Amino acid sequence: MIQATGASLAYSDQGRQVFACKDIDIDVRENEFLGILGPSGSGKSSLLYLLSGLKIPTSGRILYNGADLSSLSDDQRSHLRITQFGFVFQQPYLLGYLTALENVLVSTPQDQDPDSAIEILEKLGLGHKTHRHPHELSGGERQRVCVARALRGSPRVIFADEPTAALDHSNGVSVVTLLNRLRGNGSLVMVTHDPSMLAEADRIVKLADGTLDNG
Ligand SMILES: Nc1ncnc2c1ncn2[C@@H]1O[C@H](COP(=O)(O)OP(=O)(O)OP(=O)(O)O)[C@@H](O)[C@H]1O
Ligand SMILES: [Mg+2]
Repeated sequence: MIQATGASLAYSDQGRQVFACKDIDIDVRENEFLGILGPSGSGKSSLLYLLSGLKIPTSGRILYNGADLSSLSDDQRSHLRITQFGFVFQQPYLLGYLTALENVLVSTPQDQDPDSAIEILEKLGLGHKTHRHPHELSGGERQRVCVARALRGSPRVIFADEPTAALDHSNGVSVVTLLNRLRGNGSLVMVTHDPSMLAEADRIVKLADGTLDNG
């Protein structure tokens, strides 16, 4: 479904090229939980930005169902992300002036039906906190609101960037289990430095210094 071939993301650092990701070849398959394991600074966030079209590779290609993400306009890529992808970021960033429910609704401008959003929040154990603002929620609850936002609209692919980093171990495991259970037929691509968070993954690949070890 997603195919990366020779994909690199380079930054220029004081005139020198540094690679956050280098020559990445990987497929994301339909309906799989793909785990990507790597230490801090190995390029995990960068790889997710590439696979999801948030960033364009400086060389190589990312295809989504055969379409080269680099050849789409910014608007087309945004549309693709809104309609096909869900994203859980490393930091649970929510809009502070919106409630949990409103934060979930903002992810799908095309679908403002609160009932289905409430249903997702209920499945995540937040049914009684839909009207709370982020500062009235715990860190784990905030991350679960982010998970609800990512799940909304039944995306084809959910990208999760170390979604458990700010949580204790048991809350972390519970967030991953919920993501995996509620993704339906969508694929889940999750990056983490913690192998114990990938117990349910169908496949695990390792990232080091921006390079994938495809085994
Ligand atoms: N905007 C940028 N300019 C220059 N270098 C960058 C930039 N963004 C990231 N990098 C570098 O790219 C490398 C990979 O960064 P990335 O954020 O993808 O790593 P990560 O594996 O997600 O790390 P962490 O686990 O700490 O979140 C790092 O060495 C980082 O310093
Ligand atoms: Mg990161």
